[in-house]
Amino acid sequence: MPVIEIQPSIYWIGVNDHTTDLFEGIWPITQEGVSYNSYLIDGEKKVLIDLAKSIKADQFFRQISEICEISQLDYIVLNHMEPDHTGTLGLLWKLAPQATILCTPQAQPMVESFYGITERVQPVDDGETINLGQLTLKFFHTPFVHWPETMMTYETSSRTLFSCDAFGSYGALSGTIFDDQLNDFDFYLKQALRYYVNIVAKFSSMVTRAIQKLADIPIKIIAPSHGLIWKNDPQKIVDLYQTWARLANGKGDRAVTLVYGSMYGNTEEMMDAVAQGVAQAGIPVEIFDLRRTHFSYILPALWLHQGVIIGAPTYETALFPLAVQLLDLCHRKAIKNKKVAYFGSFGWSGGGQRELEKWATELKWELTDTLVFRGAATLEDLKKGQQFGREFAKMLKEDLV
Ligand SMILES: Cc1cc2nc3c(=O)[nH]c(=O)nc-3n(C[C@H](O)[C@H](O)[C@H](O)COP(=O)(O)O)c2cc1C
Ligand SMILES: [Fe+2]
Ligand SMILES: [Fe+2]
Repeated sequence: MPVIEIQPSIYWIGVNDHTTDLFEGIWPITQEGVSYNSYLIDGEKKVLIDLAKSIKADQFFRQISEICEISQLDYIVLNHMEPDHTGTLGLLWKLAPQATILCTPQAQPMVESFYGITERVQPVDDGETINLGQLTLKFFHTPFVHWPETMMTYETSSRTLFSCDAFGSYGALSGTIFDDQLNDFDFYLKQALRYYVNIVAKFSSMVTRAIQKLADIPIKIIAPSHGLIWKNDPQKIVDLYQTWARLANGKGDRAVTLVYGSMYGNTEEMMDAVAQGVAQAGIPVEIFDLRRTHFSYILPALWLHQGVIIGAPTYETALFPLAVQLLDLCHRKAIKNKKVAYFGSFGWSGGGQRELEKWATELKWELTDTLVFRGAATLEDLKKGQQFGREFAKMLKEDLV
């Protein structure tokens, strides 16, 4: 892809990845793709900021060569050690014999353990500046956004913030790299939320801290290492991040995420009745079929909405495994303080409800109601299901007034 000058002497030299199916080996991006945004400052000093995943090495090195000889590089800034931004470092290191790596002190031993590099590594302090002639880089340590060694880099004259994972999104760049030239802006907003909840949300308190740290610096452009560059309205993504980070307390909006699974359709039939009830009470409901929807797409709804309804049958004296897997992931991702209700079918002695109750305690979710039934739901059961949905929705309405 041709490189693009984003500010005088500062170039986006990123690459799109349309090959990887699972980001971090977990999160599907087959449909969406992802970009590894890397930046090159072509001034008195030549500085590379963040790299690309190793499978994109050829393309990445070609991008650099559009601007300068790789051997001319003076600095390589590593904001973050995750290999989607450093995978090409081993080779780059050999091709750029004059370059010094700039990273946090916490990243230095990781540069050695990931790439065997011990020389020409210069740790930078929080708030330290490096003069590049016309331009100046200032470093802000932002631990746990996303790993403990992470930092952001700020170029003072152009007011450009290279934020790495923060403010990024899934989604390959489709023709344009800026937020003001798109007709599918909503796609990137949605992917920014999915990325946030999948990757960053667990560290929301550190996100809030990082945003506070940056509060006094004037930002004209946010140049993250995935997805769109925020040039038209950088404050928009900062505001969204603040909102999303606040939701770590579990207090979401007045809406319901209804997640269900079913082996032979009994729980599924009840799901429709429950959803009707919720809708009748005037509360929005987002419905996900666990069998067909990757968790990655369900987590954002769970993050945003206060209410959760789980529909899952009993399976081998316990809960339908796909529901268990989702609940386990919620635990790992610290999705807590939700209001939850459970329904499900069983065949003989049940057990699904018992396991759900354990998970609710573990997650600190308030279990407000349960509805279990044997085999196929009768018409009477379905009416109860409708009522169960209505009651849950009403409770949400009253609780969040
Ligand atoms: C593999 C399998 C394991 C099951 N294990 C139990 C069980 O341990 N206890 C129970 O009460 N029912 C058990 N059942 C019965 C189901 O819970 C029952 O058929 C229920 O109606 C299934 O709901 P569904 O149609 O939504 O899948 C099991 C069913 C299957 C297929
Ligand atoms: Fe990361
Ligand atoms: Fe990343």
